[in-house]
Amino acid sequence: MSSASIITPSGARYSRIMGVGGYRPERVIFNDELVEAIDSSDQWIRERTGIISRRWAAKDESVVDMAEAASRDAIVASGLEATQIDAVILATVTHPYQTPAAAPIVATRLGVQDAVAFDISAACAGYCHGIALASDMVRGGSATHVLVIGVEKLSDFTDLHDRSTAFIFGDGAGAAVVGPSDTPAIGPTVWGSDGSQWETIAQRESWTDLRDEWAAADESGGEHGWPPILMKGQAVFRWAVWGMAPVAQKALDAAGIRAEDLDAFIPHQANMRIIDSMIKQLALPPDIPVARDIAETANTSAASIPLATERMLREGQAPHGGLALQIGFGAGLVYAAQVVVLP
Ligand SMILES: CC(C)(COP(=O)(O)OP(=O)(O)OC[C@H]1O[C@@H](n2cnc3c(N)ncnc32)[C@H](O)[C@@H]1OP(=O)(O)O)[C@@H](O)C(=O)NCCC(=O)NCCS
Repeated sequence: MSSASIITPSGARYSRIMGVGGYRPERVIFNDELVEAIDSSDQWIRERTGIISRRWAAKDESVVDMAEAASRDAIVASGLEATQIDAVILATVTHPYQTPAAAPIVATRLGVQDAVAFDISAACAGYCHGIALASDMVRGGSATHVLVIGVEKLSDFTDLHDRSTAFIFGDGAGAAVVGPSDTPAIGPTVWGSDGSQWETIAQRESWTDLRDEWAAADESGGEHGWPPILMKGQAVFRWAVWGMAPVAQKALDAAGIRAEDLDAFIPHQANMRIIDSMIKQLALPPDIPVARDIAETANTSAASIPLATERMLREGQAPHGGLALQIGFGAGLVYAAQVVVLP
């Protein structure tokens, strides 16, 4: 047996978010443009979800394009050059290629040479999963500066005749750079999954089922289908309302932070009523700023938390250097929460 021992890297003692960036597509879609196809109203959508409008990407604007734009902002905000990034983690469920992943393409476009680059699929919790991985990579010594991107073009996967999803989703990208820190600035992540509920938010058909449908349609001269994301709204709503506040509380406890110590609460932007219910369950003092980006952005899945963060910092709702609790939850079902120091 060999007596040689493996050298293992040692990383930074702590990690932090160094800068965030966001990209919102130009086209604004108000509720009124969507209601006719689903027999709904602007008032119903506002009352049941808090959504007033959302952004849709242009037809030729891709997940990669949006990710690149948000990443450039995040890298500038972090005070680094793109060449200092050595890993790119891209969270998405709407990159329309089974392979390759979007992350290596984004890395190359940014001028990042030889970066570790891969996609993760953790839906609306993707960004918080990415922050957890990035933090562990920086502390474990496998990377120094990790670019974490949450990006979605959900308009490509939305059935505009589906009453439970047509008005919910939006497009956009958010990004953050995670790097070494002298002080603790990313708390322990509380995360997990429940695959028994996978059907509550899911792409309608698998690509292989669709291939068979398309073959049948070709033979009969029928129309080709396209798989939208479906959601059992009430089941997801109940899971989020009753299951996610305890996860958020555990993230606070794990970091040794009390709700009243927070400078911002940045939950996934899924439904304003879910956000309000979490505030109540966490007994969050009323003066603590809460992300409510959903009103103008709707649910952008992996992009929702970094977009909301970027907005709160840009508009001065949350202080640079403040303590924020962030929690993502969605298809899988999966969730992840952590306390972070805002850049
Ligand atoms: C989708 C969602 C907004 C629907 O709201 P809801 O209050 O659960 O709606 P329900 O399905 O219970 O329907 C309530 C009523 O509104 C009606 N309704 C449903 N969709 C409607 C629509 N788009 N417009 C108008 N009325 C609608 C229903 O017919 C029902 O009418 P009734 O009371 O006369 O029977 C909500 O379930 C939700 O936000 N779910 C969670 C989404 C989420 O968190 N996703 C995150 C993971 S990514």
